[in-house]
Amino acid sequence: MIEQASPASSPLVPRDAFPLLTARDIAYLDSAASAQKPKAVLDRMRQFYETSYANIHRAVYPLSEAATEAYESARARVARFLKAPSADSIVFTRNATEAVNLVAHAFGSRFKSGEHILVTTLEHHANIVPWQLLCDRQGLDLMPAPIDVNGDLALEAFDRLLERKPKLVAVTAASNALGTRTPIKEIIARAHRAGAAVLVDGAQAAPHFAIDVTDWDCDFLVFTGHKLYGPDGIGVLYGKPALLASMPPWQGGGDMIRTVSFAGTEYADPPQRFEAGTPPIGPAVGLAAAIDFIEAIGWDRIEAHDRALTRYALDRLAEIRGIRPVGTPRARIGIVSFTVDGVHPHDAGSLLGERGVCVRTGHHCAQPLMDHLGLPGTVRASFGVHNDTGDIDRLADALVAARQILAR
Ligand SMILES: Cc1ncc(COP(=O)(O)O)c(C=O)c1O
Repeated sequence: MIEQASPASSPLVPRDAFPLLTARDIAYLDSAASAQKPKAVLDRMRQFYETSYANIHRAVYPLSEAATEAYESARARVARFLKAPSADSIVFTRNATEAVNLVAHAFGSRFKSGEHILVTTLEHHANIVPWQLLCDRQGLDLMPAPIDVNGDLALEAFDRLLERKPKLVAVTAASNALGTRTPIKEIIARAHRAGAAVLVDGAQAAPHFAIDVTDWDCDFLVFTGHKLYGPDGIGVLYGKPALLASMPPWQGGGDMIRTVSFAGTEYADPPQRFEAGTPPIGPAVGLAAAIDFIEAIGWDRIEAHDRALTRYALDRLAEIRGIRPVGTPRARIGIVSFTVDGVHPHDAGSLLGERGVCVRTGHHCAQPLMDHLGLPGTVRASFGVHNDTGDIDRLADALVAARQILAR
């Protein structure tokens, strides 16, 4: 199924590994929003629902035991994917956003009025708004670390903010809007030296490069299934075991308890403590299949393919008058953001859409970043393992045609 590495004139994985891309004549350049699903993932989920599905953990009949086994194996698979010390350090959530909210509630409950939380200007709203809500609830102060003109984190300014001794640093490993790859290990080390815990938003990192929570030494990391060629409805929180064990539950219900009585309830240990109610069982199985899919390709090849497609896209866009790339970060994932002179990003997006080119337009849930850049939004092309230079040619041709239509 998997073909040769770059040059990116052919995809890393053929389009026909993705049923939707086989059925539709489109250039899908929106994997950063949600990746398309390979047949391998769809087949595994279908097989699970058709042969092994039942609710988990509570029943003792063999079918439920098989479903429990599949769900817990998925947890172990995620732990290996993240290089986490144990499966118990993996909590399944609905998505990355819910995982951040979980930490903001359960870990954040220990913070006191007047204390600080540090985020960066690059963050997605998912890694801003939960902290703003926490700040409102508990009288904390949210500090945004600035970026430089290239779209990289301004490390000196970041260091100065660390001098205020924030309790937590919440930072992305890769920006969804500009593609910036942050020097995450270095950031974590600096934050720890300043006494802060660190939550890493790995939503965009997970499909593009290897994550190693043990080597990085982050305290928490979140990511989401649907960007990793897996199903929607599932996300992941990794937490250092001792931290998870020290946190109170944030949602109550079935499956997160040891015993319940009206005299008082005893909570289960992590990860169950944080998984109230029926969890996303089928999606967990699908996520494990997605991890198998991406790891079989290999990170070196994925990174090389991203680099080749990004280079090619920037070159092609440079040939078109009025296209301005936004962000020139030192290191980036396969994302290229740009503006079109005199054209609102949404208008550009609809004209591209009419030509079968799927790109995302607007603020990309990063409004503070857009405000900082003084832009209403950008057009964003993001690359997946099924893309090749032909998709980018189609984008470039559609942009030329769109400019001609708008010039009339
Ligand atoms: C960097 C980043 N963080 C978090 C999220 C939130 O992911 P989800 O909507 O799956 O919770 C996204 C989604 O676009 C993202 O790009």
